[in-house]
This record gives sequence, C-alpha cells and structure tokens, in this order.
Amino acid sequence: MLRSDRWVVGSDEVALEHRVALRSAGVAVGPDGGRPVIGIANSASELNPCNLPLRELAGAAREGVVEAGGLPVEFPVVSLGEDLMKPTAMLYRNLLAIEIEEMLRSYPLDGVVLLANCDKTVPGALMGAASTRLPALLVTGGARPPCVFRGDRIGTGTALWRLWDERRAGALDDDAWLELEHCLSKGTGACNTMGTASTMAILAEVLGLLVPGASTIPSGDPRALEAARATGRRVTELAAHGGSPFAGCDDASFRNAIRVLSAVGGSTNAVLHLVALAGRLGIGLDLGDFDRLGRDVPLLVDVEPAGSGLLPDFDAAGGVPALLRELGDLLEPQVVLADGRRTAEVAGTAPGNAAGAIVPRDRPLATGGALRVVRGTLAPDGAVLKRSSATPALLRHRGRAVVFHSYEEMRHRIDDPSLDVDETSVLVLAGCGPVGGPGMPEWGMIPIPRKLLEAGVRDMVRVTDARMSGTSFGTVYLHVAPEAATGGPLGLVRDGDVIDADADAGRLDLLVGTDELAARAAAWRPAVPTTRRGWVSLYRAHVTQAPRGCDFDFLAPVDDEPPLVEPVVGRS
Ligand code: FES
Repeated sequence: MLRSDRWVVGSDEVALEHRVALRSAGVAVGPDGGRPVIGIANSASELNPCNLPLRELAGAAREGVVEAGGLPVEFPVVSLGEDLMKPTAMLYRNLLAIEIEEMLRSYPLDGVVLLANCDKTVPGALMGAASTRLPALLVTGGARPPCVFRGDRIGTGTALWRLWDERRAGALDDDAWLELEHCLSKGTGACNTMGTASTMAILAEVLGLLVPGASTIPSGDPRALEAARATGRRVTELAAHGGSPFAGCDDASFRNAIRVLSAVGGSTNAVLHLVALAGRLGIGLDLGDFDRLGRDVPLLVDVEPAGSGLLPDFDAAGGVPALLRELGDLLEPQVVLADGRRTAEVAGTAPGNAAGAIVPRDRPLATGGALRVVRGTLAPDGAVLKRSSATPALLRHRGRAVVFHSYEEMRHRIDDPSLDVDETSVLVLAGCGPVGGPGMPEWGMIPIPRKLLEAGVRDMVRVTDARMSGTSFGTVYLHVAPEAATGGPLGLVRDGDVIDADADAGRLDLLVGTDELAARAAAWRPAVPTTRRGWVSLYRAHVTQAPRGCDFDFLAPVDDEPPLVEPVVGRS
C-alpha cells in the first residue's frame, strides 16, 4: 500500500474529500489508489535568478513521473537567493529544510523531486527530505554561461572579488565598472565557478542523491531536460517499490563526498552542509574527518577559485563520472548512486582519459588536500581554511591582530588611512557566526585595506567566525568555533595581540597569557539581541555551532522516533 493510499482509498467522506481535492488540481486518483503521488518541490523564483532554470525543468520532471506511472504534483517552496537575501540565505537554510519536511509529512506524497540550485537551496531541500527518508532526488538548474570582460572569459563571484580589489586599488575606472555590470547580468543559473552551488550539486551526485552525470550540465543545455525526466522516473519507481536513496546514503557515501570535495577544491560551506545532512541521517561527521579524509586527495579539477577554468569546462571533461574514474581507489567503490549503480560501475563507464579541466592523478594541480581544519586557543572547537585557495607563503604565519567586532565596523574602518595595519597583520572579524550574524553571513573574505592594495598586497591572513562564498579565495580561517557571540575566544582578541597560525600543523593560537584571557572572559557580556521575536529569535535559540553544521538542535533524529511520524489521516 502506498503512503498516499491512506488518504485516497476508501468510500467514506474523508477519502472522497481527498480525491476531490486532488482531482480539482488535475491529479486523477481513483478510489483504489495504487499510483505513486510524487511531489515536485520547486524553488524557482524571480527573486533568485540562479533557480529560474528550474521552471522549465519542472515540466520535464513531471513527464518522467507520468512515464513511470506516477502522478506529479508541483508545489512551491521558499527560494533562498544568495545574492539578495539579507543578512544571508544561510539564515533560512533550516527554514527550507523544515518546510520540505513538513510538506512531505502533511500531504499525501510518496516521493519528491527536489528542484533546487542556488547555494542554500540544495542542502536545505536535501536535509528536509532526508529527515523523512521518503524517496527523493535532486534536480539542479545548472551553471549560468560564462561572460567575456575586456577580452577575458570570466566566471561569477571570483572575478568580481578580484576586480573589486583592482578598482579599490585604482586600476579600474567607472566605465570599466559599468561594463562589468552589464557583462555579468547575462543568463540565469548558478555561479559557474566552484562555488557552493556547484560544489553541493557535485556532492549530491556522489552521495547518490542526483542522477549520475547531471550535476554539471550547464543551464539551458537540453541534456538537463532528459536528466530531469530520468529523475522523475527514478523517484516514481523507488516510491512504487518502497525504496529510498537515503537508505543507501551511509558513512561510506559521506567519506566519498569528503574526498571529492577535496578533489574539486570545493566550497568551505560544504563542510557545514555535509555535517548537517549527515546529522539528519544519524551519521556523525567530525571536522577532523574532513582533514583526515581529504589530505591525501589531490586537486584534480581546474575550476576557479582553486583553478583557472569554469564549471562548463569540468562538464566538458566528463563531469563527476570522469572524476570518479580518475580518483579510482581513493573512493569506496560500493557506494550506491542515484540510478542504482555503484560508484565503481559509473566510474568504469565514464568516457575517455583525463583531459581539459580534469587533470590526471599523477599530474595533480596541487597535493595535500583542499581544506585544513585547525584548532588551538583561538579556535578550541575548530576552524576551516580553504588551503587550495590560500597563499602558500601565508600558511604558516605569526602577526599582530587588527580586530573588527562587527561587519559594520569593518566596512567603516577597513579603508581608513589611519588604520594601524601592514601586510603582516592578521585581520580579525568577530561577531559574525551562527548566533552573532545571525546566520553566519559570507563576510569572511575581509577586504584587504585599500592602502595595502595600492602597495600591491593581494592576500593577508584573516580569521573570523563568519563563512565565505565558495567563489572566494585567500588565506582565511573561517567558521571559528565557538563563535564570539557565545563567548568564544575570538571575541576576546584585542588589537595588537599576537596570533600564530600553522595550517598544515592544524594550529590556530592566540598568544595571550591564560590569566589575561581569563580576565577578559570574566568581563565579557553577550550582546543584546536586536530582535526577540520571530524566526531570528527561534534561530538564535536553537542553531548549533559550525562544527555541528548550524542545524537546529531539535531537528536531529530521535532514537526511539521513526524518521517520518505519520499524521492522523481523518478530517482535516
Ligand atoms: Fe546563486 Fe551563486 S549566487 S548559485
């Protein structure tokens, strides 16, 4: 018996009312049920251009559901647009997760196709579906087309941050800036660099939550329609036969995802999202897993910001299946992917040899792992560095702190000519974590002070409890935990304190005596929240720290409670 049959099968007034409601929306259920009802959860929105390609793909997913004998039902879900939402789309990732979970729980659905693309929509949708364990697969909208600016092919995010530095250094005039704006305003789809959206789509494919080969298909490519169709078919088949991709998504799946994260030089945000998603499945990931599993994985994908190409180049080189083949025995072969095949099988049928944006394993772009996890007196519970996008000479560094206690203060003071800073200083931005932000905004790539930019400095050591965009770069220690707003040592740093960082040794220390630090801690008082009601209040009260993925504490699985507590199906 299908789950939806509980709503529609029967001859009483309740079953009739449910069938009428569905029929009125064009969903032709009969009194005997037996046809899987498949949700198409669509986060397309004009407020979020990254997700607009999903409008077209929804139709293809519907076709796939019908082809497999199911009944598609499309419904809208909140769209988290990275570029426009303030203070950050991350503040609402858990809201999307709750929305997906509760929509699946409360409606007569047997499975769901998750249409998501922009950074936080992918993990939010997956987390919500994971908590129900219903059959669910992801369809992404692909990356937007690259553009050409003054003869150079440029991608989203990374190029803008670099060109902004050039403009602040006086090397880019008003005309060029306007030209850049028009150049970047072309096409819909996700960022075409290895930002968070691309990273999470790739990892979803590795986890078996997106059909093989589909995560890198560019926006507007006709292959995306076939992939969406295949996804609709697969979810319907799984629903009809009682299967779920989450059943096969185990510890080994996450180990493979962490290794691939390192091989692609992916976004540091993926650390938070993988921990949170694994947590929904009862799998405990530790920050140390990312360091341990990623260290031996060479950087094989030449895409910005760790490399020089763009996401369509990775797709042209064969995408994830070709990368799986190149990684070979670094991966666990038995992991089940979304079409039911295993990792080794998909890797074995990937076309050609490593070429273009995928380099051979014996000639990697870099070794030593893309990420580093550090701990120490400044980050007792850990911090993360994107080593693949850092300056090698700065991986071991000791310098005096220049402290900003809020984003506003940093924006106000960073270009002040009187700021006491030089290229050896360590820029500290505190108060921007999950509670402090709130939502841990992507403020972590603290701008280089203008006077240093003008002197040719392009990177400095920075330390923060904020995140940074996957498209960002630089020697930035992110996600410092515990965060300043909860009393973490980052909030106790003062101008002139010495910070000692050694990424490869896994250390991040504040060289201040323990007595002095204890005195500062005793004098510390939490900031008074600017709001005490609504979502932000709920968020601050329940969000976990970065090493636990910033999920809500009450959304973790409960041992003696089934993943999907079914509602009573009677009169509404
Ligand atoms: Fe949406 Fe980058 S801003 S994917």
